[in-house]
Amino acid sequence: MEGFHRLNNALHCEGVSLAELAAVEGTPLYVYSAGTIATRYRAIDNAFRGYPHAIHYALKANSTLAIARLLRSLGAAADANSGGEIDVALRAGFIPEQIVFTGVGKTPAELAQAIDLGVRTINAESEGELDRIDRLARERGTRVRVALRVNPDVDARSHPHISTGLKVNKFGVPADAVRDICRRFAGREGLEFAGLHTHVGSQITDLDPLRRAAATIVALARELKDDGITIDHLDVGGGLGVSYDGAKVPSADDYAAAVLPIVRDSGLSLILEPGRNIVGPAGVLLSRVVDVKDRPDGKVFVILDAGMTELMRPMLYGAFHRIEAVLCVSSSDEIVADIVGPLCESSDTLGKDRRLKRPQPGDLFAVLDAGAYGAVMASNYNRRPMPAEVLVEGERPSVIRRRQTIDDLLALES
Ligand SMILES: Cc1ncc(COP(=O)(O)O)c(C=O)c1O
Repeated sequence: MEGFHRLNNALHCEGVSLAELAAVEGTPLYVYSAGTIATRYRAIDNAFRGYPHAIHYALKANSTLAIARLLRSLGAAADANSGGEIDVALRAGFIPEQIVFTGVGKTPAELAQAIDLGVRTINAESEGELDRIDRLARERGTRVRVALRVNPDVDARSHPHISTGLKVNKFGVPADAVRDICRRFAGREGLEFAGLHTHVGSQITDLDPLRRAAATIVALARELKDDGITIDHLDVGGGLGVSYDGAKVPSADDYAAAVLPIVRDSGLSLILEPGRNIVGPAGVLLSRVVDVKDRPDGKVFVILDAGMTELMRPMLYGAFHRIEAVLCVSSSDEIVADIVGPLCESSDTLGKDRRLKRPQPGDLFAVLDAGAYGAVMASNYNRRPMPAEVLVEGERPSVIRRRQTIDDLLALES
C-alpha cells in the first residue's frame, strides 16, 4: 500500500493521520499520496529508460487538476479521451504537443478542437473517423498526425467490461484491415500517418496479451513500411494492472521486459498510456459507518456513508477492494458482513462477506486502492454531492477538490 501505513495501529497517508483528516474534512473523502504517484510514475519511466518513449498518463483514471499537474511536473504527457479531458490537460499546463487524443466516438466538435490546438496525435478509431479528420484538416489547410487504433483480437483476460482488444469489442479496426485502410488513406492531403495504436484492456495482470498486442502492431508497422508508409511511433496503450487483493502482479520492470524485446528492432519510439497503474494504489476512499444491522441469517450489514455514487467499480465490474478500519476496532466480536453504501440499490455493495471486528456507527473505514476510476466515476445519484479530495505530500494535506454542495448541484437547474 506504499504511501499508506499504520502508526500505532492508526492508518496514515504519508505523514498524515487519516482519522484526523476525516475529522476535519468530513466523509466520504478521497485521499491521495503524492509520493506514491511519483514513485509509481518513475517506476514505469525507469523501466523503459534507454529506449525512446513518452508516458502519456491516461487522464480517464483520475483527472482531478492537481493530480494532472503533479504528473506533468513529474515529466508525464497526457492521453485525453474527450474534449473535456483535453481542456483539463491544458488547464493542468500540458501543451497541445503533449496530448494524444483517443476515444471511440469523437464528435466533429471534439476533432475540430484537437486539430485547432495541434495535439501531438489523434488516435483514429475507424475509416469514418479518418475521413472526418481529413476533411476538417483540409478545411483548415493543415495536416493532422494520426495513429490508427488497431484491434488485435487479443483477450486481455481481465473483466469483460474492461477488455477492449477482442474483435467483438467496439474499439479500433481489425488488424487484417489496417494495411488496406492505410494504403487507401495514405495519400489524403489532410492526414499524416504517424503511428499505430492499440489498447487491449485495463487491469491486465497477465503480460501475454500485452506482448501479443505489441507484436501485432510491430508486424503491421513492417508491412506499412513495405508499402512506403513510414510511421514514427507505436502506441501500446495502457492496461498494466495493480494488486487489489495483495497478490503479486507484474511490475513495471516485468512489463518493460515483456514489451521492449518485441518493439526494439522496429526502431520506432514508444508511447505508453498508463492510468490505473500509476494512481490506483495511490488513493483511498474514507467513509464512516452509519449503521450496523444484524441479518436473520447471522450475517451483518455494515452501512457506510459512501457507496456507488463515490466508487462505482465494485458495482460496475464486481471489482474487489480491501476495506480496513482506519483505527483498530477494540471489539473482539468477529463478524461476517456485507459492507454496503446508503443508496437505494441492492447492487450498492462495496464488499461482500468480509470478516471483520464488529464496528460501531461513527467508525472510520478506508476503501483501499481507490485512486483510479474512483472519483472520476462519481455521480450525483440520490442527489448526493460529490466527495472532497485531498492530496497529501509528506506532512501536508491539501484539499484539491472541495466537497460539492447542494447549491453547486442546483446551480445548473432552473
Ligand atoms: C485508449 C486507452 N488508453 C489508456 C487507458 C488507461 O488504461 P489503464 O488505466 O488500465 O492503464 C485506457 C483505459 O481503459 C484506454 O481506453
